[in-house]
Amino acid sequence: MEPNFEKKILCIGAGYVGGPTMAMIAAKCPQYRVTVVDINAERIAQWNSDALPIYEPGLDAVVAAARGRNLFFSTDIEDGIRQADIIFVSVNTPTKTYGLGAGMAADLQYWEKTARTILACAESPKIIVEKSTLPVKTALAMERILKSNDSHVHFEVLSNPEFLAEGTAIRDLENPDRVLVGSRLTESGLQARDQLVEIYRNWVPTESIITSDIWSSELSKLVSNAFLAQRISSINAISALCEKTDADVTRVAGAVGRDKRIGSRFLNASVGFGGSCFKKDILNLVYICRFYGLDDVAEYWEKVVHINDYQKERFVRLMLTAMFNTLAGKKICILGFAFKADTGDTRESPAIHVCKRLLEEKAELVVSDPKALDNARRDLGAAGKRVSYVKDPYEAAEGAHALAVMTEWALYRELDFRRIYRCMAKPAFVFDGRNIVDHRKLHDIGFNVYAIGKPPLTHFD
Ligand code: NAD
Ligand code: UGA
Repeated sequence: MEPNFEKKILCIGAGYVGGPTMAMIAAKCPQYRVTVVDINAERIAQWNSDALPIYEPGLDAVVAAARGRNLFFSTDIEDGIRQADIIFVSVNTPTKTYGLGAGMAADLQYWEKTARTILACAESPKIIVEKSTLPVKTALAMERILKSNDSHVHFEVLSNPEFLAEGTAIRDLENPDRVLVGSRLTESGLQARDQLVEIYRNWVPTESIITSDIWSSELSKLVSNAFLAQRISSINAISALCEKTDADVTRVAGAVGRDKRIGSRFLNASVGFGGSCFKKDILNLVYICRFYGLDDVAEYWEKVVHINDYQKERFVRLMLTAMFNTLAGKKICILGFAFKADTGDTRESPAIHVCKRLLEEKAELVVSDPKALDNARRDLGAAGKRVSYVKDPYEAAEGAHALAVMTEWALYRELDFRRIYRCMAKPAFVFDGRNIVDHRKLHDIGFNVYAIGKPPLTHFD
């Protein structure tokens, strides 16, 4: 017989956020029953297998500790809703691709479907928690939908945005900088807020749990991502100036970041930021600002995305110019396709843009990545006649004219570049889009080395 659980928690959406966050709650709180549901039956089957649908360091162990005990993955959304006291909504909220706001606004169709399913199935009071990243004021729409029929079921809507980063999700969930809970400031709103806070207090120190009104909470998530992305675009913009002035962006970032008011983290110049959220969330912020007539504010934030696009394209042009203005028929080995290290996720990865542009220049590509080759194949599918996929980096580099480092996987720092150099076409080039390999050493081996925001190291006069 099933133990008597203190709370029944449901999460709708078993993706990069829903799976790991619920696994962490279940692992830390054996007294709660946690169920994660999804419309995607294949994904649920993977969550119930030994091959989880996402790669995240440490996730396997957290899932294994709780699955079947108090963590369950299921496709029975309706039953899940009926049983639950608290429902997290963690469905995808991508950028709209159609109609008004196409390319900018959040597409809320998945989220709204969830709200309507909850309304149709709920027979007892529920706390609904917005875990997805949503435009500010979405909770109001959620409340309106949930109050739109004559049922006497009471719903309380909370905002609890997720701040985990992929690749470090387990560490972030276990030891978050903060947990944010936004609620209505009514008696029932505050009671619901306390119930959610109680869950996190099982492992998060009280001083790290911030409570606020619901609109500030919703907006804080978009603003956090905008600020993080802005730092990368700021240092990437400066990397272009470094390349013109023989300055070194790593030294500049190091010196600037030593000011405690600025801080040293998130100042690594790169080929550009990727991931499913930065671009989408900034564009959403821009759209909201325009909606409220704040065009100057919108323009300011839009530039963060603009500089990111500029940076990706700048990298392609650097490769083209350095390799004598022609890439036609040249073999280029792409080291890394994931949008960052320690994930197989390739959503909005800068490697997608770079590879597509290199193919337009008629280059031949060999893509290597320890975890992201299946996604890479899907991303480059239509463009990909001249692409091959090879997991082993040594094999991938054989006969190549150039290496392009696109993801900061630790293994690329440790490669035997002498061995790689020997089997490449000459002159051999390295383009380091992450500034992770030892540029001086590679130059000594014989490579012509181009990095982001640094003077090139070449063997040409
Ligand atoms: P995802 O695409 O990996 O997962 C979303 C899941 O929701 C999918 O499996 C999909 O099948 C499911 N779904 C969609 N509609 C559904 C419905 N009506 N009923 C049941 N399931 C449904 O997305 P994700 O990366 O987990 O992101 C989810 C949300 O969290 C987004 O709003 C995102 O902005 C936010 N977020 C993501 C991250 C991240 O690192 N990926 C971090 C913080 C916040
Ligand atoms: C980001 C935020 O860091 C999370 O707090 C947030 O919850 C999440 O978005 C979200 O809302 O989805 P994530 O995109 O998973 O997390 O990963 P980040 O570590 O932020 O990296 C994003 C991109 O920026 C990567 O392509 C990374 O390589 C790049 N980056 C990061 C740089 O180019 N330079 C840096 O200094 C840092």
